[in-house]
Amino acid sequence: MNKTKFAIIGNPISHSLSPTMHNYWFKKYKINAEYKLLNISEDEIPSIIKKVKNGEIKGINVTLPYKKSVIPFLSKTVNDARDTHSVNTILVDKDNNLIGENTDVFGFQAAYLKSFSEQEKKNKKVLILGAGGVAPSIILALIKSNIKDITLANRTYEKSLFLKRKFKQINLIKWEDCSNKLEKFDVLINATSLGLKPNDDFKNDFSNFKKSMVYIDTIYNPPKTQMIKYFKSNKLKTFNGLNMLIYQGQKSFYLWNKINPEVDDELLELLEEN
Ligand code: ATR
Repeated sequence: MNKTKFAIIGNPISHSLSPTMHNYWFKKYKINAEYKLLNISEDEIPSIIKKVKNGEIKGINVTLPYKKSVIPFLSKTVNDARDTHSVNTILVDKDNNLIGENTDVFGFQAAYLKSFSEQEKKNKKVLILGAGGVAPSIILALIKSNIKDITLANRTYEKSLFLKRKFKQINLIKWEDCSNKLEKFDVLINATSLGLKPNDDFKNDFSNFKKSMVYIDTIYNPPKTQMIKYFKSNKLKTFNGLNMLIYQGQKSFYLWNKINPEVDDELLELLEEN
């Protein structure tokens, strides 16, 4: 029997671990399906999405830089996708509508925020770097987790203003002020694409940090970005984006297959190996 098809679209995409994860779960739950990488250009989006509508592909994940650009080709966005204007999961509902969902918000909450106590959340001051595709999901995850003190800085200031219009409670600072204001923050989150490519990294000075600061990178490949290496060598607690990837994937898998897949040790080993 033909396998049910799933895919992730993006560009670049060769670094993605989503196929490893979903194919592991298909095997574990004995689902006759396969999940592939599709490196596509922007003009290929309509034809790929059409394949979901006509059933050739059952579901797709969307990664950078298309989380917003897929929206015009969908029937509607729902839940966190509607609130963030960022879609990372596409499926067809029972009435054959193309639905855009967002599982990054859940992924970020499940990966990093669940462990904070209510008291900690109330007092934490968070600085987000970046205003691109993943930033609205991080902001919404923090807001939903009751974190009130959220500040954002982006190289292009106008883009942060756009996010401020949507999420009125966030504070903005200028990119150039990150260095001197860093010491105020308890959590620093990299939501830019910096760190993904070897020669494309932060030029800012991040030495003015609080000793108790936690650093979270949304990038998982490479597993240790320059920023992670830097803060680790300064004895700070750091996290890469792997757990966020896993938990967003868990929710996508549930939306498509109505099975909540287990995050077991074998999967973690497999992803770390890859
Ligand atoms: P898009 O901006 O098209 O949504 P993205 O990959 O989702 O693309 O977002 C990239 C993020 O990384 C943006 O916040 C971007 O900042 P700009 O809005 O100023 O472009 C940030 N980024 C990418 N390269 C950067 C660099 N060299 N220095 C600082 N920020 C950078």
